[in-house]
Amino acid sequence: MLERVSTGISKLDEIIGGGFIKGRTYLIAGGTGTGKTIMSLQYILDGLKKNETCVYISLDDRISNVLIGALNLGWNFDQYVKFGNFIPFEIRLKTEDLKHGKESKSFVKHILQYTGRRRVDRLVLDPISSLVQGVGDLLWVREYIREIVSYIEEEIGSTTVITADIPSGSSALSRYGVEEFISSGIIVLDIFEHGPNLYRILYARKMRWSPMDMSKYVFNIVPNDGIVILGKLTDFLHKYS
Ligand SMILES: Nc1ncnc2c1ncn2[C@@H]1O[C@H](COP(=O)(O)OP(=O)(O)O)[C@@H](O)[C@H]1O
Ligand SMILES: [Mg+2]
Repeated sequence: MLERVSTGISKLDEIIGGGFIKGRTYLIAGGTGTGKTIMSLQYILDGLKKNETCVYISLDDRISNVLIGALNLGWNFDQYVKFGNFIPFEIRLKTEDLKHGKESKSFVKHILQYTGRRRVDRLVLDPISSLVQGVGDLLWVREYIREIVSYIEEEIGSTTVITADIPSGSSALSRYGVEEFISSGIIVLDIFEHGPNLYRILYARKMRWSPMDMSKYVFNIVPNDGIVILGKLTDFLHKYS
């Protein structure tokens, strides 16, 4: 029996066949402003409420901005940080470092330095695309991301969420075409345009070893609750068209 970890959104757990599989890596893909950061913080918050140790690494924004944004949504992480269960930080790699072949191992070592080699239950890298911004060599980028994910699975053993910014309007699932292959599952966030209305939607695109509901679902972002799934997109289109 595979052990499952909740996404923090019970309806999403149902959609993906019972939650994430413990110890694996999952990808949340979507354009900018689709809710990737909020979904990954909701995943973290669920772990913290269960007394798990959680790490959130911001790769594009200052960590203070992320935490202030979360507070604005009604999520105060201070007590968990003080208690030591929550370890949020930012990593900003310079393009120069990458050009000179900065190893993926050193990136993971960097994480281990922050976490002090303690057991980490949940880990978020948000967004992985930022890690390699400005590096031209696509093959190298793919290998780098692949190595990071496999080191994390081996050395840290957390159930990991990586997010990927995909250009809006693109049907690609990730920026570098590798994130989707290394992950055990993909959740896509998008904004769906229907006449004068815009709907926030999400769907599962791939879930290894899990039964998966392929429907598109409409969701809202609500203060305190975060992502709230309202129902299937088809139902909305019938009701409101
Ligand atoms: N306090 C809030 N109340 C309601 N919606 C919010 C709040 N804060 C952010 N949002 C919504 O969440 C969206 C951004 O989500 P975010 O997770 O940062 O997106 P991404 O990481 O995919 O760029 C914003 O575009 C906004 O519509
Ligand atoms: Mg974000």
